[in-house]
Amino acid sequence: MATMIPQEFIQSLLGRVDIVDVVDRYVKLKKAGANYSACCPFHNEKTPSFTVSPSKQFYHCFGCGAHGNAIGFLMEYSGLAYPEAIRALAETVGMPVPETRSREPRPGGAEAPALTARMLDALSYYRAELKKSRSAIDYLKGRGVSGEIAARFGLGYAPEGWQNLAQVFADYATGPLKDTGLVIDSEPDAEHPDKKSRRYDRFRNRVMFPILDARGNVIGFGGRVIGPGEPKYLNSPETPLFEKGRELYGLYQARRAVRDANRVIVVEGYMDVVALAQNGVENAVATLGTATTPVHVAKLLKLADNVVFCFDGDAAGRKAAWRALEVSLPVLADGKVVSFLFLPPEDDPDTYVRREGRDAFLAAAAQAKPLSQFLFSELASAVDMASEEGRARFVAEAKPLVAQVQAPALSAMLRHRLAELARLDAAEVEALLPARTPPPRSSARAAPPRTVRGAPAAPELRLVARLLMRPDLSAQVPEEVLDGARPEAATLRAVAGFCRSSPHLTLGQVSAYFQGSEHEAAIEQALREPLLGQAEAGELDLEAEVSHWVRELRGERLAQRQGELVRLMSAGTATPEQMAEYQALFARMEASKSGNPPTEGVSKF
Ligand code: UTP
Ligand code: MN
Repeated sequence: MATMIPQEFIQSLLGRVDIVDVVDRYVKLKKAGANYSACCPFHNEKTPSFTVSPSKQFYHCFGCGAHGNAIGFLMEYSGLAYPEAIRALAETVGMPVPETRSREPRPGGAEAPALTARMLDALSYYRAELKKSRSAIDYLKGRGVSGEIAARFGLGYAPEGWQNLAQVFADYATGPLKDTGLVIDSEPDAEHPDKKSRRYDRFRNRVMFPILDARGNVIGFGGRVIGPGEPKYLNSPETPLFEKGRELYGLYQARRAVRDANRVIVVEGYMDVVALAQNGVENAVATLGTATTPVHVAKLLKLADNVVFCFDGDAAGRKAAWRALEVSLPVLADGKVVSFLFLPPEDDPDTYVRREGRDAFLAAAAQAKPLSQFLFSELASAVDMASEEGRARFVAEAKPLVAQVQAPALSAMLRHRLAELARLDAAEVEALLPARTPPPRSSARAAPPRTVRGAPAAPELRLVARLLMRPDLSAQVPEEVLDGARPEAATLRAVAGFCRSSPHLTLGQVSAYFQGSEHEAAIEQALREPLLGQAEAGELDLEAEVSHWVRELRGERLAQRQGELVRLMSAGTATPEQMAEYQALFARMEASKSGNPPTEGVSKF
């Protein structure tokens, strides 16, 4: 069972440390007005957009959207898990960390542990089982994996048997375990409807590869059969924690090396990542049994200027590479280099690096084919470039691909090269190709995981963001706006309630309070709005902002209630009280329309 660090301790720890000192130990900060700034350590940049606020005890990067308190910074920067980051921070100020055992979960109750805690418990179990399994240890040893690397990747073993996880989860039989993806509930038997459906472990007799998110939370698993068997790899299903098309296996472990090398190597398999790390190539990540997505590419291009896709040398590998090329085109930027490394047909990165060694692999990666070359050589190989017809076909195939490139210099060079290869002059190619087009379908566009822009958050979250900047303003939020149909209303209610009870806490402390709660994701989203710098520079009138969003929400609530009343009246079922309420409402809404114009300076988001 996981241990817990009491919330009161976390709050007093955050009250004691200064985030400026914490960050400054790793990233040299420069004073800029009330804040401190630096080039962001979490993405590649040349002008500083990373801001640290001493009064809010919070950091925010306007370039990549990274944000958090002192604990979050240590997690993200040093790759520590939440409790480890707290311990590391406590050590710097000499505070001993008290720990309590978490309560036994009540089946299905409100105290059921958060999903990530359950995943962590499963991980501990699988890791302990690996130590006991001769066959699993021999299997990994046979593939050249040392104990050290197994520990680095948290490798484990799910033993034989159908309900082993009942030892891990006290509420195995009845608890809400579906969202962990670790168990399967058998379908009720149509012929014996009274026979109860049974729950059993998804992973049995498999070597387990935990999949971590950027903060080190376990969000899923891949499990490999030992020896032959189908399917070779079994993966967690999509759950609230795990969305395959966004995640990259090994990114958490590779972060540092990727940053240092300014290069990330993308491979296909779990074992490829592990074997590369084993052989000293630490900047490798894998897509999770899915084709490369635009989200993957956008994520990777934020971390490093060079992305090398390294696929198996077989036909499937070439196909996967082509797909990676297609999704890269719209997100390419000048200054970024995407390239492709093809291994000999009989190899994958695992076998190659084990046979040829680190230096040979790195030399091959340095020789990887740039995207532009791969694009044209692949297209040219499919036609007869010696004939006019062949070259016409070549131009027709290349056209829609080249048109997707938004990066100005790269786009110009691709057009130039296309003209050369097709033996046309530049003007002829320009006539065939449209001017740089806007990105094709919006769905194909990269939606980077954490961007400053993005779909505007629900008004509840806009208000949440402002209350987090100034918890004391929660006193101005009337009860009536806290009820709403959107799920974000629950977050607003929780945040407003907490802020009212603790109006003097910093943003860093308030966000720590909600860490790991059901509101964490919504708060994370609210904090993507880049308010920190503006607020500190005094460019943002937070009081006016709060009253603007309160008014906005109140208007919505009134309109909603009005709609209900109209429905009752037209159905002829409204009571006299309800009719009177309608008239009063109507008068109120009319009055508010002629009221104050929206606040100046309400930022667009
Ligand atoms: P590969 O078949 O190339 O396997 O699948 P591999 O990584 O070389 O595996 P080893 O070396 O035989 O152990 C590449 C990736 O595709 C996904 C997994 O993510 C795997 O790492 N995959 C493959 C599955 O999800 N299920 C499968 O049955 C096979
Ligand atoms: Mn392999």
